Amino acid sequence: MSRKIIIDTDPGQDDAVAILLALASPEELDVLGIVTVAGNVELNQTTRNALQTVELSGRTDVPVYAGCARPMRQPLITAKYVHGDTGLDGPDLPAPQMKAEEQHGVDFIIEALRSNPANTVTLCTLGPLTNIGMAFVKAPDIVERVERIVMMGGAYFEVGNTTPAAEFNIYVDPEAADLVMRSGVPITLATLDVTHKVLTTKDHLEQIRAIGKRAATATVEMLDFFERFDREKYGWDGGPLHDPCVIAWLLKPELFGGRDINVEIETGSELTRGMTVADYWGIMDKPANVHFLDSVDATGFFALLAQRLERLP
Ligand code: RIB
Ligand code: CA
Repeated sequence: MSRKIIIDTDPGQDDAVAILLALASPEELDVLGIVTVAGNVELNQTTRNALQTVELSGRTDVPVYAGCARPMRQPLITAKYVHGDTGLDGPDLPAPQMKAEEQHGVDFIIEALRSNPANTVTLCTLGPLTNIGMAFVKAPDIVERVERIVMMGGAYFEVGNTTPAAEFNIYVDPEAADLVMRSGVPITLATLDVTHKVLTTKDHLEQIRAIGKRAATATVEMLDFFERFDREKYGWDGGPLHDPCVIAWLLKPELFGGRDINVEIETGSELTRGMTVADYWGIMDKPANVHFLDSVDATGFFALLAQRLERLP
């Protein structure tokens, strides 16, 4: 029985690899739709990038919906300095033939949660939480119907990548992240603490390059571009492959370790806006609202990724 998921995303090369991994795994994952959000680049571009990625996978049966064009309260900041002006720099992909659906992505999320049995749809968030936050504000009845949110965002021991305190997805829309963290929906959180342990080393990229087919080759071209910024910033022998951790956890949770803790979002301070304040050592008597991933078998992660990418055209 495959798991129904909605992928909420701001492609972004790492988002694109997460989408390819999900679309290459139809036995386990029934992707009801892909909803784009402004984040790494503006909404029109993240939507174009999502369409190109779906076409690259060959799974043009999966619809793409455009979501929100800016955060709930903050002005949009992008990450073109990491992802390039298109957000999908690296491969030379053809202009998409597919079109995004007419329905707004937030309305699609609401409709999907209302029309499927409660606790059967999982939300996979790979970017700022704007669409989820807006859906919960517009239709509070859907909150208790969400099976789980599996989210890439935040950091604790690895500290911030956008400010010293905050990771990009949370920093862009801290109000939406705060609303989602407080919602009561079960959350699995893949922060930089775990994504910084899955690095696109030469050996791992060679595993994918050796596949020699279009989707795998484009993946290597995406990652060759995407990793350069973090290689230089951190001095590592590869870049962290953030968003595919969300999908890999759904496919093989045994690759990951973690603990149930309380996580809250800073929204009041200009200095630490978007910080994920994780009570990792259980100091405060607050509810454990998050399953916080803190370890991963990187070899197993890349073996899974290569094995699934090999299935694509
Ligand atoms: O901080 C990493 C996150 O920000 C990833 O989701 C990446 O795609 C960007 O959105
Ligand atoms: Ca992303």
